[in-house]
Amino acid sequence: MPAPIRTLTTIAEARAFVAAERAAGRRVALVPTMGALHRGHLELVRRARERAETVIASVFVNPLQFGPHEDLDRYPRTPQTDTEQLIVLGVEAVFMPTVEEMYPDGGRSATLVTAGHLGTVLEGRSRPGHYDGVLTVVTKLFSIVAPDVALFGEKDAQQLFLVRRMVRDLDLPVEIIGVPTVREPDGLALSSRNAMLQAGERQDALALSRALEAAGSAADRGVEAMLAAAQSVFQSDTGVQLDYLAVVDPRTFAFANESHHGLVQVLVAARVGTASTNAVRLIDNAIFSIP
Ligand code: PAF
Repeated sequence: MPAPIRTLTTIAEARAFVAAERAAGRRVALVPTMGALHRGHLELVRRARERAETVIASVFVNPLQFGPHEDLDRYPRTPQTDTEQLIVLGVEAVFMPTVEEMYPDGGRSATLVTAGHLGTVLEGRSRPGHYDGVLTVVTKLFSIVAPDVALFGEKDAQQLFLVRRMVRDLDLPVEIIGVPTVREPDGLALSSRNAMLQAGERQDALALSRALEAAGSAADRGVEAMLAAAQSVFQSDTGVQLDYLAVVDPRTFAFANESHHGLVQVLVAARVGTASTNAVRLIDNAIFSIP
């Protein structure tokens, strides 16, 4: 019989809950999410359990990280099933604040944590302000929950890199753990946005993982060959519009050049679906080694 879960909706409740856990000598892990939980999130929770006696998941669709023409309104919201899944996993608490609780003054004109230059390239170039929104809400969650450890999926590699860098730059007392992407058997990376794919588009979405696979099989020929191999997947896939493909050094997130040897991270973003207003934007990445 799983223990009852505490549903925390206010910042004061969350702080009081964490204070009691700490007073009882328990370590606290935070799993920040935007809900619509899937097996990738459940893996974050499972890994969190290995690191702390008390696991708190946050479920908050953060408006600050969505641009004006992005999918904030369409983003799936399933608080009931999210809570049920978290109960089965034995999570001690879920923090589900309202937008007003997190941003009483509206948010847009408030203090921001900025991601700097790296927040303006790749994902940040396509989604201006996105990572400032992410870092701001993550900082708020760290301030509210004061976790010993926080877990993030590796699927958003740039987010994980920026969160780690922020923690280092701002001396935040939290350990960041990256958790490998969970995939369907055919390679599709799990994402809450997969729920927005229409019938038929699910197959098209495989272009992302196929492009990564193609890049990996060209790794012994260098960066340019990897990019060309990945690019060729999109030339034959009409239902998918490539946003960007890039090869970076995972230690710095700088673009890798042709003379690069050793580990590289291939990043891909694409819009799946022909109707541009309803297209679903997906990202994926993989690490390979150039001999
Ligand atoms: O990766 C996500 O789901 C979100 O960007 C996060 C980290 C929960 C912040 O809103």
